[in-house]
Amino acid sequence: MVTVAEPTALMEEIVVHPPKRLLYGPGPGQVHPRVYQAMAQPIVGHLDAYFFEISTDIQRLLRTVFGTKNEMTFVISATGSGGMETAISNFVEQGTKVAVFANGFFCDRQTEMARRQGGEVVRFEKPWGEVFGDNEAAEFIRREKPQVVTYVQAETSAGAFQRGEAICKAAHEVGALVIADCVTSLGAMPVEVDKTGIDIAYSCSQKGLSCPPGLSPITVSPRAMEWLKARTTPNRSWYFDIKLISDYLIQSHRYHHTASATMFYALREGLALIEEEGLENRWERHHQAHLEFVKQIEGLGLEMLVAPEHRIWNLNTPKVPQGADDAKVRATLLKDNGIEIAGGFGPLAGKVFRVGLMGPLATTDSVNHFIECFGKALRGAGYKG
Ligand SMILES: Cc1ncc(COP(=O)(O)O)c(C=O)c1O
Repeated sequence: MVTVAEPTALMEEIVVHPPKRLLYGPGPGQVHPRVYQAMAQPIVGHLDAYFFEISTDIQRLLRTVFGTKNEMTFVISATGSGGMETAISNFVEQGTKVAVFANGFFCDRQTEMARRQGGEVVRFEKPWGEVFGDNEAAEFIRREKPQVVTYVQAETSAGAFQRGEAICKAAHEVGALVIADCVTSLGAMPVEVDKTGIDIAYSCSQKGLSCPPGLSPITVSPRAMEWLKARTTPNRSWYFDIKLISDYLIQSHRYHHTASATMFYALREGLALIEEEGLENRWERHHQAHLEFVKQIEGLGLEMLVAPEHRIWNLNTPKVPQGADDAKVRATLLKDNGIEIAGGFGPLAGKVFRVGLMGPLATTDSVNHFIECFGKALRGAGYKG
């Protein structure tokens, strides 16, 4: 007879004791306590019937969160960049013409990945923090006639939300597939894959879904799956080959890789929390927290980088005010309050703070707490406002 210790019985013996943090950065966001509890459950094998039960629940719940009926909705065992690589490596091959809407760091990553697959990339560029208007986006696509179009719905480097309807409509008119990065928006803002017309959308577990990093939800339209079935060259990436992964997770349940049961439990629990709250209620909670944040940040005398109608609700980019040293503000918040936020980088280095209000931290109380600590840190770092 073999006896196995339950994880909870070992809790006091572990050597890992991380410092307490409040994750107000661009991600990872704060993990919900119920998700941690789910992660402490014993693992089952990656071919166990219980694993596939959890995986099937995840697929169903993700369809709601993505706003899609796509059967091909599942999870990649990788972070958000793995979702990006899955989308690009499956739909871009040698010589594919790819049109990238480029207004931030993650559009540049899409560009780099498309080029590595042999894609011929054309870019429509805008300064970080700006978005593309319907007419100019459609004109670019009609002029370039690409086979694949990519854009980032919520550009975390700048805080701007790109609407996709006009992009998708124009792309479909020229026969192109649309890949949208929904890494920061999923679970916190309306993603609405089917309504928007997106063909392939990918995300991550560590932002709007209140889980740790490690998984990348993805959804693929029937139209894109038809294209993929007709593809004659093999995907250069074996690990991210959608045909192989979907065969494991959805069709035959044959081994492809050793998926982490722990992370699947986490995502299942995170999605259960969204289902219980109601997706629209959750969006509204993030929206209200954002509006409260903007009101209070403007009350401190700071300005937001992005125009009001284009802001991401769960990732705010107030400008660093005159006289304040932004690195000092961030260091003080971490040291005195255990609060993590991020600064800008690239063209926005030293110019903005990046403050996430995600999952459990998207509440008025959480905004009040943040602004109180932030105001003190700003004044301590030289701000006189
Ligand atoms: C918009 C966007 N796309 C892609 C990524 C990459 O995700 P990950 O860091 O999980 O690989 C991020 C990460 O923050 C992101 O914000």
